[in-house]
Amino acid sequence: MAEEVQGQAAEAPATSGVSESQIAVHWREEDYIQPPASFVSQANANDPAILERFSEDKFPECFKEYADLLSWDQTWHTTLDTSNAPFYKWFVGGRLNASYNCVDRHAAANPDKTAIVFVSEIESDEHVHISYGELLRQVNEFAALLRDFCGLKTGDRVTLHMPMVPELPVVMLACARLGVIHSEVFGGFSGAAAGSRISDSGSRVLITMDGYYRAGKMGDHKVKADEALEMAAKEGQEVDKVLVWRRRPGEYQSKTPMVEGRDFFIDELLPRYAGQTVEPVSMPAEAPLFLMYTSGTTGRPKGCQHSTGGYLSYVAGTSKYYLDIHPDDMYWCMADIGWITGHSYIVYGPLALGTTTVIYEGVPNYPDGGRPWRIAEQLRVNIFHTSPTAIRMLRKVGPEEPRKYNYHFKSMTTVGEPIEPEVWRWYFTEVGKGGAAITDTWWQTENGGFLGATLPGLQPMKPGSCGPSVLGIQAVLYDEEGNEIPKGSGKAGNICIRNPWPGIFQTIWGDPERFLSTYFRKYNKNPDSKDWRDWPYFTNDGAVIAADAYIRILGRVDDVINVAGHRLGTKEIESAALTVPEVAEAAAVPVVDDVRGRVVEMYVSLKPGFEASDEVAAKVSQTIDTTIGKIARPKNVWIVADMPKTRSGKIMRRVIASVSNFTEVGDVSTLANPEIVEQVREQVQTAKRERGQEQRELTETEQHEIKSFGES
Ligand code: PRX
Repeated sequence: MAEEVQGQAAEAPATSGVSESQIAVHWREEDYIQPPASFVSQANANDPAILERFSEDKFPECFKEYADLLSWDQTWHTTLDTSNAPFYKWFVGGRLNASYNCVDRHAAANPDKTAIVFVSEIESDEHVHISYGELLRQVNEFAALLRDFCGLKTGDRVTLHMPMVPELPVVMLACARLGVIHSEVFGGFSGAAAGSRISDSGSRVLITMDGYYRAGKMGDHKVKADEALEMAAKEGQEVDKVLVWRRRPGEYQSKTPMVEGRDFFIDELLPRYAGQTVEPVSMPAEAPLFLMYTSGTTGRPKGCQHSTGGYLSYVAGTSKYYLDIHPDDMYWCMADIGWITGHSYIVYGPLALGTTTVIYEGVPNYPDGGRPWRIAEQLRVNIFHTSPTAIRMLRKVGPEEPRKYNYHFKSMTTVGEPIEPEVWRWYFTEVGKGGAAITDTWWQTENGGFLGATLPGLQPMKPGSCGPSVLGIQAVLYDEEGNEIPKGSGKAGNICIRNPWPGIFQTIWGDPERFLSTYFRKYNKNPDSKDWRDWPYFTNDGAVIAADAYIRILGRVDDVINVAGHRLGTKEIESAALTVPEVAEAAAVPVVDDVRGRVVEMYVSLKPGFEASDEVAAKVSQTIDTTIGKIARPKNVWIVADMPKTRSGKIMRRVIASVSNFTEVGDVSTLANPEIVEQVREQVQTAKRERGQEQRELTETEQHEIKSFGES
């Protein structure tokens, strides 16, 4: 397959003077890079026959190969039931338990094997190795506590608001053991955010922790539980019990008092359940396993409901073939379990395959930019998984740090955003030392697992493209009217998935209408159809598909800046800016312009050792001009000390877009660095006033666009 793809002509780069959508694809198509031979020879998928097994005519039965990675109590009779399309059911009639699949069966075969290694942010703390046998004990005891102390039973929902600690997968797996639906809220989210998720899911129990380390400081996390309960109560949801883990058992890190009869220290309760075992409940394949909330274009968070059998099969299969996990690997995904990536590719996928998964508590650059590489060296990590943002950050703080450490990655993954070819190359040469395959994985909270990626042992890498759609997934580009845009045309469109797959979410919790309207109505021509072919899934991402079927994601369709009627992907502009040697980070935002509709403004931060100057700003502008075209030339290039970022490290484009447009920046309290906002506002708006660029008052729709810009 590698040769086959290699042999095809790459699409010609789009040129100026063409159609509007072509303007959006100036991110030049890069050349192929072959994976190292040492990787290919040991890869789980290195025989092209696998592509045949998952070809379109084998759908949906091809996914049996993924389901067969699991142990089923009862085999399914129907692989895919579309009778209520697009509310699909996978592996109908099958029964299994996710906790059994991730723990018991490995504990029986290999009790002393390490399941989880926990790395505290405090570097002098010892790593904690939890064997499969030990994990089984902990999961059983916690399941007994949930059942007997909390009275929880199959189908109940429980909200978790926990940081990156090994207790989190223990809780998730204990819920799964009972068929209780867990809903973990990212630890960095506010109490109010947790509260609205508690009420939406109807949870009567909240599981939290007193505190955890972040950039060297122990933060008070328990305080958020009180805020969460207040918010939940406001929305009509009462919570009976708050279970509190202590980051250091016996020591309480929070200043918030425990509420008598409501709040309980878990380390005080657990001894009551010592040695107890709880039979895993045999669940129907289509029973919900968990909810994962994600934000949409409107305010209310959406609880994506994931299934037991389909989801677990899909994450096991994709972990095996795309992450290339073998049972003896040391696998480290530096995402947070509070996001879908962590659920699928820290907890469920790797543990279903019986490998060792590393959980790191803190920020990647604490105490310095060499920390991840030290961890990799100490633990002999051989598969590393992270986001472009983390890569950019690590490159900024320590471009040569990886060279100092003696580790060897066989494969590396990225997820979450398009990765600029420039950043990709640093990841490949410096982090991977040229010896690892890179898999750029494109997917979404709604999807359960990967949608687009290269099979690392069979398909060459192409920086900036995630690769073709993954095994069993049929990707297609549509224009606004539903006409298919042929691959290789150089035109951008809305990327959709033609067929269902086992990892797809089942619905939005409590809001099936929103499930239909957000993802399926746009391209459905017959609402009564029971044929999956009539229900393309609309990802809400813009993309181009090259002649070789490689996909380049341009970002959410709402991340597009429409300049004089021309759609420009923010990522391409940012990628261009990043080729300027002084630039460390770049963000493009729209500014309302009375002549051209929108124009682009650029925000950049510089690598250490470089000073802000008019020359650097001019260079950025010039580079965008020459790489993309005058259409994308920024109105201003602001060189800022730092970008406002979320705690997971994403640049908050809506905040800087609001600054550029003189609109309210909104709530910035959940940012990692809220203090930078005022500094940037002062710098940018003073300069704009001096340049006579004050903004007129925006219309309501303009305000909406700016305030939600970059929010997906
Ligand atoms: O725009 C795509 C972008 O992230 C969105 C999904 O975000 P979320 O639901 O938070 O899930 C992130 C982790 C799976 C997508 O709609 N995205 C995700 N991965 C990539 C990406 N964009 C480009 N390349 C990727 N590899």
